[in-house]
Amino acid sequence: MVQNLVSSIKFKAMIDLSCKYLGLHLKNPLIVGSSGLTSSVENLKTIARLGAGAVILKSIFEEQIKFETDKFLNSNDPGMKSWQDAFEGIVSKKEFYHEEAFDYLTNYAKEHTLSHYLKLVLDAKQAIDIPVIASIHCSTQYDWQYFAKRIQEAGADALELNVYLLPSDFDKTSSDIEQVYFDIIHEVKKFITIPFALKIGYYFSSLAQTALKLSETGIAGLTLFNRPYNPDIDIETLHVSASNMYSNEAEYHHSLRWVALLAGKIKCNIAASTGIHNYETIIKQLLAGADAVQMVSVFYEKNFEIIPQMIAGIESWMQDHNFNTINEFKGLLSHTNVHNPASYERVQFIRLYSSIV
Ligand SMILES: Cc1cc2nc3c(=O)[nH]c(=O)nc-3n(C[C@H](O)[C@H](O)[C@H](O)COP(=O)(O)O)c2cc1C
Repeated sequence: MVQNLVSSIKFKAMIDLSCKYLGLHLKNPLIVGSSGLTSSVENLKTIARLGAGAVILKSIFEEQIKFETDKFLNSNDPGMKSWQDAFEGIVSKKEFYHEEAFDYLTNYAKEHTLSHYLKLVLDAKQAIDIPVIASIHCSTQYDWQYFAKRIQEAGADALELNVYLLPSDFDKTSSDIEQVYFDIIHEVKKFITIPFALKIGYYFSSLAQTALKLSETGIAGLTLFNRPYNPDIDIETLHVSASNMYSNEAEYHHSLRWVALLAGKIKCNIAASTGIHNYETIIKQLLAGADAVQMVSVFYEKNFEIIPQMIAGIESWMQDHNFNTINEFKGLLSHTNVHNPASYERVQFIRLYSSIV
């Protein structure tokens, strides 16, 4: 029995979950993805203590700045009163045109929001010893680069740019829309030296080619995919409502397909995201070729205490399958390596349909 114990300890010691993502050393590929859960230092400490490989902070959103501006103008909070008076003063004294005063206020709100965010980055870096990846979502090119530069200065290890453009404008071609992604990368690259990834959606007319071209720009990674806000319709109230904010555990197939199709072909890392709720799906994504996985909804549904279970699950599976390192099985079932690559490309259930009566 003692011998069994010794050999199991010995064998466990050989399992190495470490991996490289965005040029960073991760002790395992489980990343807690960007969300409200990663906006407090308390949560970040818990995430690190429980063994996640890295964390992506909640995005700083430019929309949030507009929201802050509106909140400021409409607030009844006495604390805001002196600022509102000052703002009114600026406008009424006609020292500025109204538009200029508004720009002034927007800049104030921007700095205010940004300084909060930079503090989070700084505090996170001091509080935890796993890589801290910051995240931004902007709508103007100037702000992408400005935010990125300031976040780098605050000490983030890497950056994820959350770029999700819904191609719903009838006046824009697919190339017009794709160009925006390249312009953002071009601008951000000029201002930062830390690695950065792009978190994208799947609305591209040629996703494979666009992903390849994006990966050739020098970005360090692509996150496949962001899960957008989706509308729904309430047939009782006849209102447009929001669909479920959280993914379920059956939603991983879309990213699994694209991870498998792109792995080994594009020139940057791939993080799988959406619908990853258990260790089995983490393993599937790694087999398909993901360098790391990002998980969010499952932590809202359960809590961070499941992180050690996920890691133990991967270790135990590796042990059962005689894999000692992640590299030994990463991409084993990618489109390039799989025996029947057509299974990733098939979109019609022809054989299945024909057998169903
Ligand atoms: C409540 C909530 C807040 C989120 N906030 C952000 C965010 O600030 N930035 C971002 O890039 N993604 C955000 N996301 C998207 C997640 O990072 C992730 O891409 C998405 O939830 C899919 O992963 P999951 O299936 O593991 O939840 C958020 C998701 C949720 C549920």
